[in-house]
Amino acid sequence: MKDGHLPVLAAEVVTMLAPAPGSLQLDATVGGGGHTERILEATDPDGHLLGLDADGAAIARVDRRLRPRFGDRLVLRSANFRELATVAPAAGFAAVDGALFDLGLSSFQLADAERGFGIRAGGPLDMRFDPSRGVPAAELLATLDAAELTALFRRFGEEPQAARIARAIVDARRTAPLRTAEELAALIERVAPHGPRGRRRIHPATRVFQALRIAVNEELDALEAGLAAAADLLRPGGRLVVLSYHSLEDRIVKRFIAAERRGCTCPPEVPVCVCGRNPRLRLVTRPSLTPSAAEIAANPRARSARLRAAERIAA
Ligand SMILES: C[S@@+](CC[C@H](N)C(=O)[O-])C[C@H]1O[C@@H](n2cnc3c(N)ncnc32)[C@H](O)[C@@H]1O
Repeated sequence: MKDGHLPVLAAEVVTMLAPAPGSLQLDATVGGGGHTERILEATDPDGHLLGLDADGAAIARVDRRLRPRFGDRLVLRSANFRELATVAPAAGFAAVDGALFDLGLSSFQLADAERGFGIRAGGPLDMRFDPSRGVPAAELLATLDAAELTALFRRFGEEPQAARIARAIVDARRTAPLRTAEELAALIERVAPHGPRGRRRIHPATRVFQALRIAVNEELDALEAGLAAAADLLRPGGRLVVLSYHSLEDRIVKRFIAAERRGCTCPPEVPVCVCGRNPRLRLVTRPSLTPSAAEIAANPRARSARLRAAERIAA
């Protein structure tokens, strides 16, 4: 692919992070390094950035591409952002001025047939961001029973035909295991050919692929842990910017920011606060930003993006 991964809402991310020269920045999802590069440019000449990705191949690629230009201003770690609370301080980033999460997967991963993320790219159904950990998608399809698969497709894919697809998978695997993205996509096209009704037509397997990817990578749990750790790391005045691509992610981000704006977690019937928690964030975007029609035309992957930004206040 000529352009690799085009960073989504790149100008807006930089505006919202407002990275200053000399500041310490965190990119929790380096991917192709597009946002990383822009943040490092904005922090010229002496800002530093810690970049994380669960996918070691992404870290290696960005290291090759950006190291010659930014030298030791760029610190890279192959790590899951759910481990941010330990990884960041160990890398010298115990307090940061900005933190970015650009969720989901990159165009590199989607196009790589070895990874099994893409309906069209095909390949073995793996879908792990970090192929050295966890269980590949094919194993979930081989071992979960119909009720468990139904629940998974409903919960993480909001798939209306979850039960029908789950039953078909259990039937099909009696003959032969489902091993590739092509096999799974063809089965879904056969048993549930009409994707959910909506404004745009998506491949009927899109929601099941999303559900499997979220389950394989425990994405929603990782997001909750990563956001909490990032808020702990932010200095007062530091910015948190999150780009999400579907409602399950965005709901977590929205609720997280709302809870951190509220602070107190005491139930309403308690007359005086006993939890002692103070508000830690204030909203920067009200309520969120989405890409322009021109950006979506140039980069269709941006179409479902939603950016939320908040600023750390002294707690
Ligand atoms: C949308 S891409 C990021 C693209 C990047 N902002 C750019 O401009 O090129 C998302 C990246 O996050 C990584 N990722 C997803 N979940 C992760 C997690 N829990 N911890 C670390 N990296 C994660 C994926 O491996 C992928 O490379």
